[in-house]
Amino acid sequence: MISHTLSNVRRYEAEEGDKVSPELRPLFHLTPRIGWMNDPNGFSQYKGKYHLFYQYYPYGKLWGRMHWGHAVTEDLLHWEYLPAALAPDSFADRDGCFSGSAITLEDGKHLLMYTGVIQSPDSEKEFFQRQCIAVGDGVDYVKQINNPVIEAKDLPHDSNGLDFRDPKIWKEQDGTYGCVCVDKDMNDHGRILYFKSNDAFSWHFHSILLENDGSVGKMWECPDVFELDGKKVLLFSPQDMLKKGNYPNGNSTIAMIGEFNDDGTRFLPETKQPIDSGIDFYATQTLLAEDGRRIMVAWMQNWDTILYTEKKIPWLGQMIVPRELSVKDNRLYQLPAREIEALRSNPVIMNDVEAEGVFSLDGIDGRTIDLSLDIRQTELKFQRFEIRLAQNDEYYTSLVYRPREGTLEFDRTNSGTRRAVLNSRKLTVEDGRESLKLRIIMDRYSVEVFINDGREAFTNCIFTPLDAQGIGFIVDGKALLDIEKYQLDQ
Ligand code: FRU
Repeated sequence: MISHTLSNVRRYEAEEGDKVSPELRPLFHLTPRIGWMNDPNGFSQYKGKYHLFYQYYPYGKLWGRMHWGHAVTEDLLHWEYLPAALAPDSFADRDGCFSGSAITLEDGKHLLMYTGVIQSPDSEKEFFQRQCIAVGDGVDYVKQINNPVIEAKDLPHDSNGLDFRDPKIWKEQDGTYGCVCVDKDMNDHGRILYFKSNDAFSWHFHSILLENDGSVGKMWECPDVFELDGKKVLLFSPQDMLKKGNYPNGNSTIAMIGEFNDDGTRFLPETKQPIDSGIDFYATQTLLAEDGRRIMVAWMQNWDTILYTEKKIPWLGQMIVPRELSVKDNRLYQLPAREIEALRSNPVIMNDVEAEGVFSLDGIDGRTIDLSLDIRQTELKFQRFEIRLAQNDEYYTSLVYRPREGTLEFDRTNSGTRRAVLNSRKLTVEDGRESLKLRIIMDRYSVEVFINDGREAFTNCIFTPLDAQGIGFIVDGKALLDIEKYQLDQ
Protein backbone atom coordinates (compact mmCIF):
# COMPACT_ATOMS: atom_id res chain seq x y z
CA MET A 1 0.00 0.00 0.00
CA ILE A 2 1.35 3.38 -0.97
CA SER A 3 0.70 6.12 1.61
CA HIS A 4 -1.03 9.41 0.81
CA THR A 5 2.21 11.25 1.48
CA LEU A 6 4.04 9.17 -1.11
CA SER A 7 1.30 9.20 -3.72
CA ASN A 8 0.97 13.00 -3.38
CA VAL A 9 4.70 13.41 -3.90
CA ARG A 10 4.66 11.12 -6.88
CA ARG A 11 1.82 13.06 -8.48
CA TYR A 12 3.46 16.41 -7.72
CA GLU A 13 6.89 15.48 -9.06
CA ALA A 14 5.43 13.95 -12.23
CA GLU A 15 3.41 17.12 -12.94
CA GLU A 16 6.02 19.69 -12.01
CA GLY A 17 9.17 17.77 -12.91
CA ASP A 18 8.01 16.95 -16.40
CA LYS A 19 7.44 20.66 -17.10
CA VAL A 20 11.15 21.38 -16.70
CA SER A 21 12.69 21.90 -20.10
CA PRO A 22 15.74 19.67 -20.64
CA GLU A 23 17.66 22.83 -21.59
CA LEU A 24 17.38 23.91 -17.95
CA ARG A 25 19.15 20.79 -16.74
CA PRO A 26 22.74 19.68 -17.19
CA LEU A 27 23.38 17.36 -20.12
CA PHE A 28 24.63 14.35 -18.18
CA HIS A 29 24.65 15.18 -14.46
CA LEU A 30 21.69 14.08 -12.36
CA THR A 31 19.53 16.83 -10.86
CA PRO A 32 16.41 16.38 -8.68
CA ARG A 33 13.27 15.82 -10.65
CA ILE A 34 12.00 19.00 -9.01
CA GLY A 35 13.06 21.00 -5.95
CA TRP A 36 15.94 20.12 -3.66
CA MET A 37 18.55 17.35 -3.72
CA ASN A 38 21.39 16.53 -1.34
CA ASP A 39 23.27 13.28 -0.70
CA PRO A 40 23.30 10.34 -3.12
CA ASN A 41 21.61 7.31 -1.56
CA GLY A 42 21.15 3.65 -2.45
CA PHE A 43 23.67 3.70 -5.32
CA SER A 44 23.48 0.13 -6.62
CA GLN A 45 23.08 -2.09 -9.65
CA TYR A 46 19.74 -3.85 -9.76
CA LYS A 47 18.03 -5.76 -12.57
CA GLY A 48 20.54 -4.57 -15.15
CA LYS A 49 20.45 -0.86 -14.29
CA TYR A 50 22.29 1.49 -12.00
CA HIS A 51 19.90 2.91 -9.41
CA LEU A 52 20.65 6.22 -7.75
CA PHE A 53 18.39 7.60 -5.04
CA TYR A 54 18.88 10.98 -3.45
CA GLN A 55 17.92 13.09 -0.46
CA TYR A 56 14.94 14.92 -1.85
CA TYR A 57 12.53 17.70 -0.91
CA PRO A 58 10.37 18.26 -3.98
CA TYR A 59 8.28 21.15 -2.69
CA GLY A 60 10.93 23.88 -2.89
CA LYS A 61 14.59 24.64 -3.48
CA LEU A 62 15.37 24.12 0.19
CA TRP A 63 16.07 21.27 2.58
CA GLY A 64 12.87 20.00 4.18
CA ARG A 65 11.37 16.72 5.42
CA MET A 66 13.51 14.29 3.53
CA HIS A 67 12.23 11.87 0.90
CA TRP A 68 14.21 9.59 -1.40
CA GLY A 69 14.08 10.64 -5.06
CA HIS A 70 14.92 7.93 -7.57
CA ALA A 71 16.59 7.68 -10.99
CA VAL A 72 18.06 4.88 -13.10
CA THR A 73 20.66 4.75 -15.85
CA GLU A 74 22.40 2.18 -17.99
CA ASP A 75 25.52 4.20 -18.73
CA LEU A 76 25.88 6.47 -15.66
CA LEU A 77 25.20 9.51 -17.88
CA HIS A 78 21.65 9.27 -19.29
CA TRP A 79 19.22 9.35 -16.37
CA GLU A 80 15.59 8.35 -16.26
CA TYR A 81 13.44 9.43 -13.32
CA LEU A 82 11.41 6.86 -11.43
CA PRO A 83 8.76 7.78 -8.85
CA ALA A 84 10.05 8.88 -5.44
CA ALA A 85 10.89 5.74 -3.46
CA LEU A 86 10.49 6.79 0.17
CA ALA A 87 8.48 9.47 1.94
CA PRO A 88 8.44 10.34 5.66
CA ASP A 89 5.16 8.53 6.23
CA SER A 90 5.67 5.89 8.93
CA PHE A 91 5.98 5.85 12.70
CA ALA A 92 9.74 5.21 12.48
CA ASP A 93 10.57 8.00 10.00
CA ARG A 94 7.77 10.55 10.16
CA ASP A 95 10.19 13.53 10.24
CA GLY A 96 12.51 12.38 7.48
CA CYS A 97 14.07 9.53 5.55
CA PHE A 98 17.74 10.42 5.77
CA SER A 99 20.67 8.96 3.85
CA GLY A 100 21.35 5.28 3.33
CA SER A 101 22.30 2.62 0.85
CA ALA A 102 21.02 -0.45 -1.04
CA ILE A 103 21.85 -4.07 -1.87
CA THR A 104 20.22 -6.98 -3.68
CA LEU A 105 19.01 -9.79 -1.41
CA GLU A 106 19.37 -13.53 -2.12
CA ASP A 107 15.70 -13.71 -3.15
CA GLY A 108 16.24 -11.02 -5.81
CA LYS A 109 14.56 -8.19 -3.90
CA HIS A 110 16.14 -4.77 -3.52
CA LEU A 111 16.78 -3.67 0.05
CA LEU A 112 17.10 -0.01 1.10
CA MET A 113 18.66 0.75 4.47
CA TYR A 114 18.17 4.34 5.62
CA THR A 115 17.96 6.60 8.64
CA GLY A 116 14.47 7.21 9.99
CA VAL A 117 14.17 10.51 11.83
CA ILE A 118 11.62 11.52 14.45
CA GLN A 119 11.44 14.69 16.43
CA SER A 120 11.96 14.36 20.16
CA PRO A 121 8.78 15.11 22.17
CA ASP A 122 10.91 17.32 24.47
CA SER A 123 12.55 19.67 22.01
CA GLU A 124 11.85 20.97 18.53
CA LYS A 125 15.55 20.97 17.87
CA GLU A 126 16.27 17.39 18.90
CA PHE A 127 15.77 14.51 16.51
CA PHE A 128 16.13 10.80 17.12
CA GLN A 129 17.84 8.95 14.32
CA ARG A 130 17.57 5.19 13.86
CA GLN A 131 18.25 2.75 11.03
CA CYS A 132 15.32 1.40 9.03
CA ILE A 133 14.74 -0.96 6.13
CA ALA A 134 12.43 -1.03 3.10
CA VAL A 135 12.30 -3.86 0.56
CA GLY A 136 11.08 -3.59 -3.00
CA ASP A 137 11.21 -4.39 -6.69
CA GLY A 138 13.18 -1.39 -7.98
CA VAL A 139 10.14 0.95 -8.03
CA ASP A 140 7.92 0.36 -4.99
CA TYR A 141 9.33 -0.31 -1.53
CA VAL A 142 7.63 -1.64 1.60
CA LYS A 143 8.92 -0.46 4.94
CA GLN A 144 9.60 -3.18 7.51
CA ILE A 145 6.98 -3.39 10.21
CA ASN A 146 9.68 -3.83 12.88
CA ASN A 147 11.55 -0.64 11.93
CA PRO A 148 13.83 0.68 13.30
CA VAL A 149 16.23 -2.26 12.99
CA ILE A 150 19.09 -0.50 14.80
CA GLU A 151 18.38 2.10 17.48
CA ALA A 152 19.85 3.93 20.48
CA LYS A 153 19.86 0.82 22.71
CA ASP A 154 22.22 -0.89 20.24
CA LEU A 155 24.83 1.88 20.52
CA PRO A 156 27.96 2.10 22.71
CA HIS A 157 27.09 3.54 26.13
CA ASP A 158 28.91 6.84 25.48
CA SER A 159 26.97 7.69 22.33
CA ASN A 160 25.17 11.04 22.50
CA GLY A 161 22.02 9.18 21.45
CA LEU A 162 20.97 11.78 18.88
CA ASP A 163 23.41 11.79 15.94
CA PHE A 164 23.32 8.30 14.48
CA ARG A 165 22.86 7.94 10.75
CA ASP A 166 23.83 7.12 7.15
CA PRO A 167 24.03 3.28 7.03
CA LYS A 168 26.21 1.89 4.22
CA ILE A 169 25.45 -1.79 3.78
CA TRP A 170 27.48 -4.49 1.98
CA LYS A 171 27.59 -8.22 1.63
CA GLU A 172 30.53 -9.98 3.28
CA GLN A 173 32.33 -12.78 1.46
CA ASP A 174 30.82 -15.42 3.78
CA GLY A 175 27.27 -14.39 2.79
CA THR A 176 26.56 -12.37 5.95
CA TYR A 177 26.10 -8.58 5.90
CA GLY A 178 28.05 -5.65 7.24
CA CYS A 179 27.15 -2.00 7.61
CA VAL A 180 28.81 1.16 8.84
CA CYS A 181 26.97 4.13 10.33
CA VAL A 182 28.16 7.30 11.99
CA ASP A 183 27.39 8.49 15.50
CA LYS A 184 28.77 11.06 17.92
CA ASP A 185 30.14 10.48 21.40
CA MET A 186 29.56 12.66 24.47
CA ASN A 187 32.63 14.77 23.60
CA ASP A 188 31.16 15.89 20.27
CA HIS A 189 33.44 13.57 18.29
CA GLY A 190 32.19 11.63 15.27
CA ARG A 191 32.80 7.90 14.95
CA ILE A 192 32.33 5.10 12.44
CA LEU A 193 30.34 2.20 13.90
CA TYR A 194 30.44 -1.28 12.41
CA PHE A 195 27.34 -3.54 12.64
CA LYS A 196 26.83 -7.12 11.46
CA SER A 197 23.88 -9.24 10.45
CA ASN A 198 23.20 -12.76 9.16
CA ASP A 199 20.15 -11.79 7.12
CA ALA A 200 20.35 -7.98 6.57
CA PHE A 201 17.29 -7.51 8.82
CA SER A 202 18.44 -8.11 12.38
CA TRP A 203 21.64 -6.35 13.34
CA HIS A 204 24.12 -6.29 16.19
CA PHE A 205 26.89 -3.88 17.09
CA HIS A 206 30.33 -5.21 16.15
CA SER A 207 32.87 -2.45 16.90
CA ILE A 208 33.91 1.17 16.67
CA LEU A 209 35.86 1.07 13.42
CA LEU A 210 37.41 4.51 13.90
CA GLU A 211 36.79 7.55 16.05
CA ASN A 212 37.64 11.21 15.73
CA ASP A 213 40.43 12.21 18.10
CA GLY A 214 39.25 15.80 17.81
CA SER A 215 41.57 16.68 14.93
CA VAL A 216 39.14 15.88 12.09
CA GLY A 217 36.19 18.27 12.48
CA LYS A 218 33.38 17.22 14.80
CA MET A 219 30.56 14.99 13.53
CA TRP A 220 31.33 12.68 10.60
CA GLU A 221 28.75 11.85 7.93
CA CYS A 222 28.18 9.41 5.05
CA PRO A 223 30.73 6.64 5.79
CA ASP A 224 31.76 4.06 3.22
CA VAL A 225 34.36 1.31 3.54
CA PHE A 226 35.58 -1.10 0.88
CA GLU A 227 38.54 -2.96 -0.48
CA LEU A 228 40.31 -1.60 -3.54
CA ASP A 229 43.58 -2.62 -5.18
CA GLY A 230 44.59 -4.68 -2.15
CA LYS A 231 43.97 -1.95 0.44
CA LYS A 232 41.05 -0.97 2.67
CA VAL A 233 39.59 2.44 1.87
CA LEU A 234 37.44 4.49 4.22
CA LEU A 235 35.53 7.54 2.93
CA PHE A 236 33.52 9.97 5.02
CA SER A 237 32.46 13.60 5.21
CA PRO A 238 33.52 15.45 8.38
CA GLN A 239 31.66 18.58 9.54
CA ASP A 240 33.13 21.69 11.17
CA MET A 241 36.67 21.27 9.87
CA LEU A 242 39.35 23.85 10.46
CA LYS A 243 41.30 24.73 7.34
CA LYS A 244 44.35 22.49 7.08
CA GLY A 245 46.35 22.06 3.87
CA ASN A 246 43.90 21.19 1.11
CA TYR A 247 41.06 20.41 3.54
CA PRO A 248 38.67 23.35 3.37
CA ASN A 249 36.86 24.82 6.36
CA GLY A 250 33.45 23.52 7.23
CA ASN A 251 31.99 20.46 5.58
CA SER A 252 34.83 18.53 3.99
CA THR A 253 35.51 15.03 2.67
CA ILE A 254 38.24 12.58 3.49
CA ALA A 255 39.65 9.32 2.13
CA MET A 256 41.80 7.14 4.36
CA ILE A 257 43.78 4.22 3.00
CA GLY A 258 44.89 1.47 5.35
CA GLU A 259 44.08 -1.99 6.68
CA PHE A 260 41.75 -3.63 9.19
CA ASN A 261 43.35 -5.03 12.34
CA ASP A 262 43.62 -8.83 12.67
CA ASP A 263 40.21 -9.42 14.19
CA GLY A 264 38.50 -7.01 11.77
CA THR A 265 37.22 -4.61 14.41
CA ARG A 266 39.36 -1.53 13.75
CA PHE A 267 40.42 0.45 10.72
CA LEU A 268 44.11 1.34 10.86
CA PRO A 269 44.72 4.36 8.64
CA GLU A 270 48.05 4.69 6.86
CA THR A 271 47.37 7.78 4.73
CA LYS A 272 44.63 10.35 4.40
CA GLN A 273 43.70 12.96 1.81
CA PRO A 274 40.77 15.20 0.86
CA ILE A 275 38.64 13.35 -1.70
CA ASP A 276 37.96 16.54 -3.66
CA SER A 277 39.06 20.04 -2.71
CA GLY A 278 36.49 21.98 -4.76
CA ILE A 279 33.76 24.26 -3.44
CA ASP A 280 30.90 21.97 -4.46
CA PHE A 281 31.54 18.47 -3.22
CA TYR A 282 30.20 16.45 -0.26
CA ALA A 283 28.66 13.15 0.86
CA THR A 284 30.25 10.44 -1.29
CA GLN A 285 28.86 6.97 -1.89
CA THR A 286 30.32 4.10 -3.91
CA LEU A 287 29.22 0.83 -5.46
CA LEU A 288 31.10 -2.20 -6.70
CA ALA A 289 29.93 -2.61 -10.30
CA GLU A 290 29.33 -6.06 -11.75
CA ASP A 291 32.35 -5.47 -14.00
CA GLY A 292 34.58 -5.01 -10.93
CA ARG A 293 34.91 -1.21 -10.97
CA ARG A 294 34.50 0.79 -7.76
CA ILE A 295 32.40 3.79 -8.81
CA MET A 296 31.82 6.86 -6.67
CA VAL A 297 29.09 9.48 -6.74
CA ALA A 298 28.72 12.54 -4.51
CA TRP A 299 26.58 15.61 -4.02
CA MET A 300 27.98 18.36 -6.27
CA GLN A 301 27.18 21.00 -3.69
CA ASN A 302 28.14 21.62 -0.08
CA TRP A 303 26.17 22.81 2.95
CA ASP A 304 28.50 25.75 3.59
CA THR A 305 28.65 27.21 0.12
CA ILE A 306 25.28 26.73 -1.55
CA LEU A 307 25.04 28.85 -4.69
CA TYR A 308 21.30 29.35 -5.07
CA THR A 309 20.08 29.04 -8.65
CA GLU A 310 18.08 31.71 -10.46
CA LYS A 311 14.30 31.51 -10.26
CA LYS A 312 13.86 30.02 -13.73
CA ILE A 313 15.83 26.92 -12.68
CA PRO A 314 13.38 24.89 -10.55
CA TRP A 315 15.93 22.49 -9.08
CA LEU A 316 18.82 22.85 -6.67
CA GLY A 317 21.62 20.31 -6.32
CA GLN A 318 23.42 18.04 -8.77
CA MET A 319 25.41 14.83 -8.53
CA ILE A 320 29.03 14.65 -9.73
CA VAL A 321 29.85 12.69 -12.85
CA PRO A 322 30.25 9.10 -11.58
CA ARG A 323 33.97 8.42 -11.05
CA GLU A 324 36.09 5.28 -11.23
CA LEU A 325 38.35 4.89 -8.23
CA SER A 326 41.74 3.26 -7.88
CA VAL A 327 44.52 3.17 -5.27
CA LYS A 328 48.14 3.75 -6.26
CA ASP A 329 50.97 4.23 -3.76
CA ASN A 330 48.45 4.54 -0.94
CA ARG A 331 46.58 7.37 -2.65
CA LEU A 332 43.04 7.42 -3.95
CA TYR A 333 42.78 8.31 -7.65
CA GLN A 334 39.57 9.20 -9.44
CA LEU A 335 38.63 9.69 -13.07
CA PRO A 336 35.27 10.13 -14.82
CA ALA A 337 33.64 6.78 -15.58
CA ARG A 338 34.89 5.64 -18.99
CA GLU A 339 31.31 5.68 -20.37
CA ILE A 340 31.80 9.41 -20.96
CA GLU A 341 33.97 8.60 -23.98
CA ALA A 342 30.83 7.55 -25.85
CA LEU A 343 29.52 11.15 -25.63
CA ARG A 344 32.63 12.58 -27.30
CA SER A 345 32.65 14.14 -30.76
CA ASN A 346 34.64 16.72 -32.76
CA PRO A 347 38.16 16.08 -31.43
CA VAL A 348 40.62 18.97 -31.52
CA ILE A 349 44.16 17.87 -30.72
CA MET A 350 47.27 20.10 -30.65
CA ASN A 351 50.72 19.33 -29.31
CA ASP A 352 53.63 21.56 -28.24
CA VAL A 353 51.66 24.77 -28.70
CA GLU A 354 53.87 27.71 -27.71
CA ALA A 355 51.57 29.55 -25.35
CA GLU A 356 52.19 33.20 -24.53
CA GLY A 357 50.20 36.40 -24.00
CA VAL A 358 46.43 36.53 -24.29
CA PHE A 359 45.01 34.11 -26.81
CA SER A 360 42.33 31.61 -27.75
CA LEU A 361 42.64 28.53 -29.93
CA ASP A 362 40.51 27.49 -32.89
CA GLY A 363 37.96 24.86 -31.90
CA ILE A 364 38.69 25.16 -28.17
CA ASP A 365 35.40 26.35 -26.71
CA GLY A 366 32.04 25.05 -25.47
CA ARG A 367 30.10 24.37 -22.29
CA THR A 368 29.76 20.60 -22.49
CA ILE A 369 33.29 19.41 -23.10
CA ASP A 370 36.00 16.95 -22.11
CA LEU A 371 39.22 19.00 -22.23
CA SER A 372 42.71 17.74 -21.38
CA LEU A 373 45.65 20.10 -20.98
CA ASP A 374 49.28 19.36 -20.33
CA ILE A 375 51.01 22.59 -19.32
CA ARG A 376 54.83 22.66 -19.18
CA GLN A 377 57.52 25.19 -18.33
CA THR A 378 59.92 26.53 -20.96
CA GLU A 379 63.16 28.45 -20.58
CA LEU A 380 61.17 31.69 -20.69
CA LYS A 381 59.47 30.69 -17.49
CA PHE A 382 55.88 31.64 -16.78
CA GLN A 383 54.58 32.28 -13.29
CA ARG A 384 50.90 32.46 -14.04
CA PHE A 385 48.84 30.45 -16.54
CA GLU A 386 45.17 31.34 -16.62
CA ILE A 387 42.38 29.47 -18.38
CA ARG A 388 39.11 31.35 -18.73
CA LEU A 389 36.08 29.11 -19.14
CA ALA A 390 32.43 29.90 -19.96
CA GLN A 391 33.61 33.24 -21.29
CA ASN A 392 31.89 36.03 -23.22
CA ASP A 393 32.11 39.83 -23.06
CA GLU A 394 30.59 39.87 -19.60
CA TYR A 395 31.50 36.65 -17.85
CA TYR A 396 34.24 34.15 -17.23
CA THR A 397 35.38 31.61 -14.66
CA SER A 398 39.07 31.22 -14.17
CA LEU A 399 41.50 28.49 -13.33
CA VAL A 400 44.93 29.90 -12.51
CA TYR A 401 48.04 27.73 -12.33
CA ARG A 402 51.02 29.23 -10.50
CA PRO A 403 54.00 26.89 -10.83
CA ARG A 404 56.20 28.83 -8.42
CA GLU A 405 53.61 28.22 -5.66
CA GLY A 406 52.53 24.91 -7.10
CA THR A 407 48.89 25.96 -6.83
CA LEU A 408 45.72 25.85 -8.90
CA GLU A 409 43.03 28.39 -8.11
CA PHE A 410 39.39 28.32 -9.20
CA ASP A 411 37.48 31.60 -9.24
CA ARG A 412 33.85 32.10 -10.25
CA THR A 413 33.47 35.68 -9.01
CA ASN A 414 32.85 36.82 -12.60
CA SER A 415 30.74 33.84 -13.62
CA GLY A 416 27.46 35.77 -13.46
CA THR A 417 26.57 34.92 -9.87
CA ARG A 418 24.76 37.58 -7.88
CA ARG A 419 25.70 35.87 -4.63
CA ALA A 420 28.66 36.78 -2.44
CA VAL A 421 29.12 33.26 -1.12
CA LEU A 422 32.53 31.66 -1.35
CA ASN A 423 33.51 32.01 -4.99
CA SER A 424 37.13 30.95 -5.13
CA ARG A 425 39.35 28.24 -3.76
CA LYS A 426 43.03 27.45 -4.09
CA LEU A 427 44.56 24.01 -4.12
CA THR A 428 48.21 23.14 -3.55
CA VAL A 429 49.01 20.52 -6.15
CA GLU A 430 51.49 17.81 -5.27
CA ASP A 431 54.39 17.86 -7.74
CA GLY A 432 52.87 20.97 -9.32
CA ARG A 433 55.99 23.10 -9.75
CA GLU A 434 57.18 22.19 -13.21
CA SER A 435 54.12 20.99 -15.08
CA LEU A 436 50.45 20.30 -14.63
CA LYS A 437 48.05 17.88 -16.28
CA LEU A 438 44.39 18.79 -16.17
CA ARG A 439 41.31 17.01 -17.39
CA ILE A 440 38.32 19.32 -17.25
CA ILE A 441 34.79 17.97 -17.59
CA MET A 442 32.34 20.77 -18.18
CA ASP A 443 28.61 20.33 -18.20
CA ARG A 444 26.22 23.28 -18.45
CA TYR A 445 26.46 24.17 -14.77
CA SER A 446 29.69 22.62 -13.52
CA VAL A 447 33.45 22.38 -13.93
CA GLU A 448 35.07 19.19 -12.62
CA VAL A 449 38.85 19.19 -12.74
CA PHE A 450 40.95 16.03 -12.46
CA ILE A 451 44.59 16.84 -11.78
CA ASN A 452 47.62 14.72 -12.72
CA ASP A 453 45.65 11.66 -13.91
CA GLY A 454 43.13 11.90 -11.09
CA ARG A 455 45.54 12.19 -8.18
CA GLU A 456 43.58 15.23 -7.05
CA ALA A 457 40.12 16.53 -7.91
CA PHE A 458 38.58 19.98 -7.81
CA THR A 459 34.82 20.26 -8.36
CA ASN A 460 32.93 23.52 -8.72
CA CYS A 461 29.56 24.70 -10.03
CA ILE A 462 28.82 27.77 -12.14
CA PHE A 463 25.51 29.15 -13.32
CA THR A 464 26.77 31.35 -16.14
CA PRO A 465 24.29 31.96 -18.99
CA LEU A 466 24.77 29.20 -21.51
CA ASP A 467 25.67 31.51 -24.40
CA ALA A 468 29.03 32.18 -22.69
CA GLN A 469 30.83 29.47 -24.62
CA GLY A 470 34.35 30.88 -25.00
CA ILE A 471 37.65 29.62 -23.62
CA GLY A 472 40.64 31.96 -23.36
CA PHE A 473 44.20 31.78 -22.06
CA ILE A 474 46.50 34.33 -20.42
CA VAL A 475 50.16 33.45 -19.87
CA ASP A 476 52.74 35.87 -18.45
CA GLY A 477 55.81 34.11 -19.92
CA LYS A 478 55.98 31.22 -22.31
CA ALA A 479 54.50 27.77 -21.74
CA LEU A 480 54.28 24.63 -23.80
CA LEU A 481 50.84 23.19 -24.12
CA ASP A 482 49.34 19.91 -25.32
CA ILE A 483 45.59 20.06 -25.67
CA GLU A 484 42.91 17.53 -26.48
CA LYS A 485 39.30 18.59 -26.58
CA TYR A 486 36.03 16.80 -27.31
CA GLN A 487 32.55 18.12 -27.41
CA LEU A 488 30.14 16.10 -25.26
CA ASP A 489 26.68 15.42 -26.71
CA GLN A 490 23.69 13.40 -25.57
C1 FRU B 1 24.81 14.76 4.87
C2 FRU B 1 23.55 14.61 5.69
C3 FRU B 1 23.45 13.20 6.22
C4 FRU B 1 21.97 13.06 6.45
C5 FRU B 1 21.40 13.85 5.31
C6 FRU B 1 20.12 14.55 5.63
O1 FRU B 1 24.76 15.75 3.89
O2 FRU B 1 23.54 15.57 6.74
O3 FRU B 1 24.24 12.95 7.36
O4 FRU B 1 21.58 11.71 6.42
O5 FRU B 1 22.37 14.78 4.93
O6 FRU B 1 19.53 15.10 4.50
